[in-house]
Amino acid sequence: MVTEQSVSPAPARVLVASNRGPVSYTRRDDGTLEARRGGGGLVSGLSAIGADGSGEDAVWVCAALGEGDREAVRRTEGRLDPADTGGQRVRMLGIDPEVYAAAYNDIANSTLWFVHHMLYQTPLEPSFGPEFRERWAAYETYNRAFAEALAQEAAEGAAVLVQDYHLALVPGMLRALRPDLRIGHFSHTPWAPAEYFRLLPDDIAERLLLGMLGADRLGFLTWRWAEAFKECARSVLADRGLTAHWPQDAAGDGGRHLTYAHENGPSGGRTYLAVHGLGADGDFLRERAHRPDVAERMAALREQIGVAPDGADRRTIVRVDRTELSKNIVRGLLSYRQLLLDHPHWRERVVHVAFAYPSRQDLAIYRAYTEEVQRVADAINTELGTPGWTPVVLHVKDDFARSLAAYRLADVALVNPIRDGMNLVAKEIPVLSERACALVLSREAGAYAELGEDALVVNPYDINATAAALHEALTMPPADRTDRAKRLAAAATALPPQRWFLDQLEALRG
Ligand code: F6P
Repeated sequence: MVTEQSVSPAPARVLVASNRGPVSYTRRDDGTLEARRGGGGLVSGLSAIGADGSGEDAVWVCAALGEGDREAVRRTEGRLDPADTGGQRVRMLGIDPEVYAAAYNDIANSTLWFVHHMLYQTPLEPSFGPEFRERWAAYETYNRAFAEALAQEAAEGAAVLVQDYHLALVPGMLRALRPDLRIGHFSHTPWAPAEYFRLLPDDIAERLLLGMLGADRLGFLTWRWAEAFKECARSVLADRGLTAHWPQDAAGDGGRHLTYAHENGPSGGRTYLAVHGLGADGDFLRERAHRPDVAERMAALREQIGVAPDGADRRTIVRVDRTELSKNIVRGLLSYRQLLLDHPHWRERVVHVAFAYPSRQDLAIYRAYTEEVQRVADAINTELGTPGWTPVVLHVKDDFARSLAAYRLADVALVNPIRDGMNLVAKEIPVLSERACALVLSREAGAYAELGEDALVVNPYDINATAAALHEALTMPPADRTDRAKRLAAAATALPPQRWFLDQLEALRG
């Protein structure tokens, strides 16, 4: 439900900005709006604000994503009814749909996402012409809308936590509007190596970097991405005639920060780099995974998985992804097929439970990728399946309870992205698996930095090696598996979302 009226609230001491907000709206047939709340690290993290009774006021600034959201913005002047948001103050921006589509689909998801995940097939792409420049102008407009809204909402000296590649220009723009603010930016993706980042036109690369460097603090999920950013800033800005200087000594915070002093950058001072490796929310997951809807999904999945001819439970290799181009689901399926070819005794004794949920379906390349996932899964089932055994159980409709059910049933977790900021699934499955799952993990996932020692680590492009790792995971001695699973679960929950968020806030406030 949304109200017709909105009251101008007090300036906020803590602000979060992200493209996708904590709630989305759809219009029902009778014209009313239905609000749906999302989950994730930020929602959980932000709930920590004020939970200590400090009475601290926080606001979340986000964009209207679709028609339902835009209608909610019209009805509330963008200040959503707290009844829809679980009490969270949310300011939703009704950005012009064409500007929004160009900024979100064309620049954020088809350019910046591709650069940071190194997804281009470079003989033909990218190719930056006049059309790109128009879209870039839209990206600037969209970032400016966020900067202006944040400047309006923030109390003197407030802390602002800006999220991700969608909003890379916001720190610089906001710094210019409100020099009094403490500004942080957090990247949930990898950061591209300098030589790949330099595919971008030079002036755009510079604007992105200076936009980010408007922040007091830049947060990343691993040091690998933080170092990549640092190298981009060093080399790209030096080429553009800007003075960039990184003191060799790590400053403050147990040596986890580096200081970047740039004389010409918009913050005109220092930007600290920091790493905050977002972890799984163990308490939430364990509670949520034991509700009745998950038990129902487990029963249904068990039915689909079936039992081996000798009556034993079939083993499961579980993967759960949003179908993003970087998740490498197709090579995962091909590796599973290779396992069945190389080790035929696993036939009828193992099932690959693969959930590939829709993501960014406005983009043709994402739709084509989803189709390819389905085609390859079907081909494996046709080639190798038997009347009593479906080798791949694929689901493409998002169902959180079913994901948790699969986590609980996992003997092996397969997480093989070609590149990934962190990959929380790699952390969540070991927390919930009731079979002390083994983890087959790509060395290109951010999670590798924390889980690599107890995982079976793979080169995500190598089908044979991934098949061999799956075999090793399925045959790992139970005691070894149990020990590793315990350590994986402990490492996975080391920095739960609320702590992750509060750490950043505290560090930003100094
Ligand atoms: O999964 C990584 C990620 O890029 C996050 O960085 C970001 O918050 C999210 O995906 C954005 O996804 P969407 O385009 O569906 O909003």
